Amino acid sequence: MTRTRAAERIQGFGTTVFAEMSALAVAHGAVNLGQGFPDFPAPTFVQEAAIAAIRDGHNQYAPVGGVPRLREAIAVDWRRRFGREIDPEREVTVTTGATEGIFAGIQALLDPGDELLTFEPFYDSYPASVTLAGGRMKVVRLDPPDWTLDVNALRRAITPRTRVLLLNTPHNPTGKVFTRAELAAIAEVCIAHDLVVIADEVYDQIVYDDHVHIPIATLPGMWERTLTLNSTGKTFSLTGWKIGFAVGPAELVGALRTVRQFVTFATATPFQEAMATALTEAPGRGYYDDLRRAYTTRRAALTEVLRAAGFAVLEAQGSYFLMTDFAGQEHATDAAFCRWLISEIGVAAIPPSAFYAEPATAPRLVRFCFAKELATIEEAGRRLVRMPARRSLAAGS
Ligand SMILES: Cc1ncc(COP(=O)(O)O)c(C=O)c1O
Repeated sequence: MTRTRAAERIQGFGTTVFAEMSALAVAHGAVNLGQGFPDFPAPTFVQEAAIAAIRDGHNQYAPVGGVPRLREAIAVDWRRRFGREIDPEREVTVTTGATEGIFAGIQALLDPGDELLTFEPFYDSYPASVTLAGGRMKVVRLDPPDWTLDVNALRRAITPRTRVLLLNTPHNPTGKVFTRAELAAIAEVCIAHDLVVIADEVYDQIVYDDHVHIPIATLPGMWERTLTLNSTGKTFSLTGWKIGFAVGPAELVGALRTVRQFVTFATATPFQEAMATALTEAPGRGYYDDLRRAYTTRRAALTEVLRAAGFAVLEAQGSYFLMTDFAGQEHATDAAFCRWLISEIGVAAIPPSAFYAEPATAPRLVRFCFAKELATIEEAGRRLVRMPARRSLAAGS
């Protein structure tokens, strides 16, 4: 029997669906509404700040917790938005994107055999990070069209080995923004069972209509048990810079930092300096309002394009993703539909089954990203209307 040299732990990880669909999109010259990255330019003042930082010689290793200016800017931002005083030295750590925050946070908080609970569908790095920690991931399902939390299902999923609840709001891929009532119910369960929360809030500035993002760390009794993760890549349309951060009590942030010092140790110094400028200047420049306004326009444009092509579009309350059905199209799975959509229609999307523990149980939906120029969305629209007419569900197809 041949034995692979790769560790057993990583067997089955495969290639992420994002990489697969992006490669297919390139091969077929498809309009890429798959992977979640903006195709429009980032704010000039942030780009200029990075160039200035490089020229000013901010080019050597940063401290493991992050450059002081950025940590201070993050603390100021938390005070401004949530009225909480945080210690930039001990309660903030910069990470190489939220992905490192998720990985290091999970390694820091789970022992082998411990359970981490999260909501399904879930971001695809969660299970891999749990597996590498030797832990077990359990899921509580959210169902379309509203993705409403079932608190009893959450309570039932808890066992004596449950240590961590990983909550993502605003939520990828559903666009759900957890309500205050839902967060209060989650908080009550976490306090009752002494769970730590990892809060993945990378889309915190991207919410629509009357929906409000509430960090679960700001609920009574939650600060001391919550590690909040964020990504400036999402907020400032600079995903390639990979600047994320963790905020929380010194004990949790310290544990993450302990792991981080042996994973990446330091994150790109000039980009951290530039993100300090971004966070400091954004409110005065009206940046967050502009961001929301622009995304609201993009969301409307993509909704219109998808409806014109015959898709039923679910509401996105936050993030930059829309979920639609593909009912009536004759494809066995969402992945098969997405491959066909790329090769035959020239538009890339993501199959949400990749966000399910058992992909076969995923609802028949597709995820489209609207962090795109309006021209990109319009071009996708011109291609999507070429889809064959959908056979009527009523006709039993
Ligand atoms: C829910 C969620 N968490 C984390 C990440 C990763 O963020 P970063 O690019 O900062 O590593 C993403 C990126 O798509 C995401 O959607």
